[in-house]
Amino acid sequence: MQAQRKPLAERVAIVTGAASGIGRAIAQQFGCCGASVACIDIHSKAAEETAQHIREYGAKALAISCDISDPEMVKNAVDATVQQFGQLHILVNNAGISPLCAFDQITLEEWNRVIAINLTGAFLMCQAALPYLRRAGVCGRIINIGSLAGQTGGIAVGAHYSASKAGLMVLGKQLAKTLAPYGVTVNNIAPATTDTPLTQAWPKATLQALCKQIPLGRLGKPEDIAEVAVFLASDSASFITGATINVNGGLFID
Ligand SMILES: NC(=O)c1ccc[n+]([C@@H]2O[C@H](COP(=O)([O-])OP(=O)(O)OC[C@H]3O[C@@H](n4cnc5c(N)ncnc54)[C@H](O)[C@@H]3O)[C@@H](O)[C@H]2O)c1
Repeated sequence: MQAQRKPLAERVAIVTGAASGIGRAIAQQFGCCGASVACIDIHSKAAEETAQHIREYGAKALAISCDISDPEMVKNAVDATVQQFGQLHILVNNAGISPLCAFDQITLEEWNRVIAINLTGAFLMCQAALPYLRRAGVCGRIINIGSLAGQTGGIAVGAHYSASKAGLMVLGKQLAKTLAPYGVTVNNIAPATTDTPLTQAWPKATLQALCKQIPLGRLGKPEDIAEVAVFLASDSASFITGATINVNGGLFID
């Protein structure tokens, strides 16, 4: 019998927002599955903690301090990854912010900030990674962490957040078509409310009300999202592109 090969062995991945929550879980799960991981985040100390966990599993990891809304920092982060690991196969656009705000309270400044991080940041990452992903060919992957709010409009979250996530997910669909001739796949994961530092900062009553609406009866866990990201990044998903995988406990069934 042949020993089981790790599904992401010899793959190099970038995970944005890897210092916390879903991004940290994805980066760590990628490391467990054999990938070398660049942990990109605006919070460098916590990104380094994620990288350290990954190294403890025996995988390679690098923490990079980067604000993904800054084009120069993004380019430097992608270049640093390739310099360190020699190649790039997988980009996970996970970093995001989600201010809770009523529509009539959203200032133009706050609107622009949410779009700059959640949508423009992913655009900048994709553009900077593109030459390497094309070179990666059938091993090339983009995985966007969208949101149920970007599919149906949000309940608790702000309209700027929902609009940014809808934009991110349709960017993924367009890039799926653009990159298919190279063998590169592009997919979205759409979580519903997931138990992370982002949602732990929300009022308890809001979280309880959201939880009650989830048919499977619990909030998502970062690991629920990470398992799907590993699958989409692996060879097992090489014929899936332009898809949105709902990880929402049945809250939205399309
Ligand atoms: N938690 C949920 O309920 C939920 C639901 C649907 C979608 N999502 C999405 O999943 C992703 C991760 O969310 P989370 O819940 O783990 O949040 P989180 O706040 O725990 O983690 C987000 C990470 O992104 C980083 N980040 C923020 N702005 C950045 C910037 N400009 N440059 C680089 N890094 C930056 C933060 O420092 C943080 O480490 C987000 O895109 C979020 O919108 C979360």
